[in-house]
Amino acid sequence: MIRPAELIERKRNGEELSSDEISELILGYARGEIPDYQLAAWCMAVYFRGLSGQETHALTDAMINSGETIELGKALGRRVVDKHSTGGVGDKTSLAVGPIVAACGVPFGKMSGRGLGHTGGTLDKLESIPGFRVELTIDEFVVQVKEVGLAIIGQTGNLVPADKLLYGLRDVTATVDIVPLIASSIMSKKLAGGADAIVLDVKVGDGAFMKTLDDARILAEQMVDLGRRAERTVVCLLTDMEQPLGRTVGNALEIREAVETITGHGPADFVELVLDACSRLLSLSDLGIDLDEGRRRAESAIADGSALQAYERWIRAQGGDPDLAALPQAPVVREVSAPRDGVVARLRALDVGIAALELGGGRRTKDDALDHAVGVVCHAKRGESVRRGHLLADVHARDDDSAARGVEAVLAAYEFGDTAPHAHGILLDLIE
Ligand code: URA
Repeated sequence: MIRPAELIERKRNGEELSSDEISELILGYARGEIPDYQLAAWCMAVYFRGLSGQETHALTDAMINSGETIELGKALGRRVVDKHSTGGVGDKTSLAVGPIVAACGVPFGKMSGRGLGHTGGTLDKLESIPGFRVELTIDEFVVQVKEVGLAIIGQTGNLVPADKLLYGLRDVTATVDIVPLIASSIMSKKLAGGADAIVLDVKVGDGAFMKTLDDARILAEQMVDLGRRAERTVVCLLTDMEQPLGRTVGNALEIREAVETITGHGPADFVELVLDACSRLLSLSDLGIDLDEGRRRAESAIADGSALQAYERWIRAQGGDPDLAALPQAPVVREVSAPRDGVVARLRALDVGIAALELGGGRRTKDDALDHAVGVVCHAKRGESVRRGHLLADVHARDDDSAARGVEAVLAAYEFGDTAPHAHGILLDLIE
């Protein structure tokens, strides 16, 4: 029997733990035999000391072994593709990618997480849809992917329960931005979920956990390595998170933008990312098509309305109302105006993410309830010219006081210049 305090101490002192020790620690935590405070202390020791490749592998295995796994491919008789993002501000990619991929005839079954820190979570966004159930049993999940072609659920029941617990704990103990913990958290869910091929979206920049391209590459390589050990294909897109993705940040606001995107009215950066992710997923599927054909099919699913139909079928199948008019709306909407003429030189994603969190759209402690209606709509983004007094953003708030604080915080997220900053696309690098 391990002594958790001893493992914390040894990790704190920079020692490498054995696979059995990591397994006992994680499984003991998942069984409720090791308390939160000891795991939190261990995570903090990992923050300072890191994990070796062997430890990261053992951690991933222990997370998977903490619960059941799904043989989704076997159940469907198909090759299964999946995607996951490391988390960013305004990242509603799965909400648009899922319906497009499903409309192209590729089953899409995904386990998602809740918001972490200033980043939003797909489950929280989905729960802004009245009636939507994120907690399906594994059997319900498999049946839905088979019959509807699309399901996104939480880590409910017994799927990677250790990650579910750890994720909530890390969120409130400043232990989110740790490369091996992120790698094992993401890959344990993807491997337990039965994906044969995985497209990972590693966010890079101020609003992401990985602040630099170099750190993002290290995370991507660790995840590709975990995938290789498990004999799965993993492709990592490294994408820009210096500014919020798309225009909206906030749960219901992001659902709205995802639906606008699958009907052909999305903002350029978000459309670019969604089409890129879709074409990669389709080319890794059993359709036997290449990237260009994948992109062409994704574009036609948007143009011919089949992506929207797939969205509506999916939301209804999970008990939700797909009508956008049913989404909650914030009672107070305040404009943020440009203080000067110029060009938006920066729109700091982190600041906008924190502003949305402070409005009530995110959690400060792991049991906080969310306000699904609140958030920020950034009308002006990096590189856009603005005139003094013109609209930069809207703050959607519960009351006047929080709206006033939100306006101040969002304005502070903007930086203006006289010339356009260097322009680049959303995709910064690719690791396969
Ligand atoms: N996304 C995850 O699933 N896990 C993390 O640890 C961070 C982002």
